[in-house]
Amino acid sequence: MTTTNASVRKAVIPVAGLGTRFLPATKAMPKEMLPVVDKPAIQYVVEEAVKVGLNDILMITGRNKRALEDHFDRVPALEATLEAKGDTAKLESIQAASNLGDIHYVRQGDPKGLGHAVLRARQHVGNEPFAVLLGDDLIDARDELLSTMIEVQAKTGGSVVALIEVEPSQISAYGCADIEEIDGEGYVRINKLVEKPDIEDAPSNLAVIGRYVLHPEVFNVLDKTEPGRGGEIQLTDALQELAAGQGDGHGVYGVVFRGRRYDTGDKLSYLKACVQLAIDSDDLGPGLRDWLPGFTAGLTK
Ligand code: UTP
Repeated sequence: MTTTNASVRKAVIPVAGLGTRFLPATKAMPKEMLPVVDKPAIQYVVEEAVKVGLNDILMITGRNKRALEDHFDRVPALEATLEAKGDTAKLESIQAASNLGDIHYVRQGDPKGLGHAVLRARQHVGNEPFAVLLGDDLIDARDELLSTMIEVQAKTGGSVVALIEVEPSQISAYGCADIEEIDGEGYVRINKLVEKPDIEDAPSNLAVIGRYVLHPEVFNVLDKTEPGRGGEIQLTDALQELAAGQGDGHGVYGVVFRGRRYDTGDKLSYLKACVQLAIDSDDLGPGLRDWLPGFTAGLTK
């Protein structure tokens, strides 16, 4: 049995999925490299981790890791050109990505599911709690989530998932949580997790999103987790076992997030995310706001 008192220092970002919902764009690059306004989605996620002090980042990559590694690396020739031109803003924008934390990479091998990807982090993470961030879910930098989840992990000693309230008709697209309120606390206890339930079987309208703070006991459970839904080793199945079990490292808690979240996992939600984020940006927002109403009303092209 694993014990831990350490606070969270490491973030694991799985980026080895096949991204089939986004083909053909994701044929030769991971979906996490798709630009959202002017940065690849993955950069928002790494920035979120670094902002709460998770400077040690492990990406679980697949066959398309090259673009990711290049994005977070220096590009001396480009930097020299921008410097010679005196284009400080662009120079700083490209240097920002290469100055983010200490990024490590490990290959998943076969993409056998999110649970399998997380298990690949075992050696790097060791015996301490760690965060998992999925590149499909972007959390607005103006809102707090991960720091709250880290506090709840420290307080409870278990694992923590992030939840959002969705329309009942949407719940079958998510993992759904059967919860119990805990008096006086800003978090809930998870009794049970159900992966993508039909509306009538859903225990709540609380959906699991792509942020986790996990106790390392999850590795022992994942090691024994058989392939589940879709023939993949599901992180939800391992969390379900941690929620149901007793003892050190068991217990799963939920933080209900009511801030701004952008889903970039499929084509329509990705397009919405781009518009939502661009509308709030200082440079693109005014132009987009001017153009969009006329365009949607069919008045302008
Ligand atoms: P998804 O199921 O959303 O990703 O997994 P996917 O399989 O790439 O996408 P579709 O459904 O085919 O379009 C959630 C996260 O887990 C990672 C993905 O990269 C994504 O960030 N993942 C998934 C892995 O790293 N390895 C896997 O085997 C599966």
